[in-house]
Amino acid sequence: DLSMIHRFIPATVEGATPLLLLHGTGGDESDLLGLGGLLSPGAALLSPRGQVLENGMPRFFRRLAEGVFDEADLRQRALELGAFVEEAQEHHGMARPVAVGFSNGANVASALMMLDPTKLAGAILIRAMVPFAEPPAFDLGGAQVLLLSGGMDPIVPTDNAARLARQLQEGGARLTHEVLPTGHGLGQMDLVIAREWLAASF
Ligand code: MLT
Repeated sequence: DLSMIHRFIPATVEGATPLLLLHGTGGDESDLLGLGGLLSPGAALLSPRGQVLENGMPRFFRRLAEGVFDEADLRQRALELGAFVEEAQEHHGMARPVAVGFSNGANVASALMMLDPTKLAGAILIRAMVPFAEPPAFDLGGAQVLLLSGGMDPIVPTDNAARLARQLQEGGARLTHEVLPTGHGLGQMDLVIAREWLAASF
């Protein structure tokens, strides 16, 4: 068996880039399957459940307070997620996925990209924030990343999102950063922009 609780939806369209779906705090492995199907109809969907519980709510890594991460735990869990992705690729015979992460799921995805830039083909990071106070050196080699921020996000200040954008660019991502007139929640605009970006980029 694979090392994380997850759901896997096999591809029905050949050649469609698989999506790695990473839910937000309190979500689970079923949460983003609908979004994944809308973003790339027929693509394989790999959707793990975060292995940390915070007051009963699944997350992908521990935090000390809102927006204050346990960086040692984040490092370990991000690398575990990378290992899971590799296992799942072998097991299901699928290609390297593009991550689609929301909030806590976006944060673990950007941490994984910084710690091991080879694991993901690219990423859609929705309401992500800077994962590490001091980012490691990394080279994403031109991997495509879409960062969707909320201009009125109470959890991720716009300057924090801008800092993450800079770090990803300096780390070699081909980054598209859009700041939407919205808060922390995921909405229709995210879907529309992400779908177009995905179709144009992969
Ligand atoms: C996090 O803990 O990753 C961020 O605060 C986002 C969240 O999950 O609320």
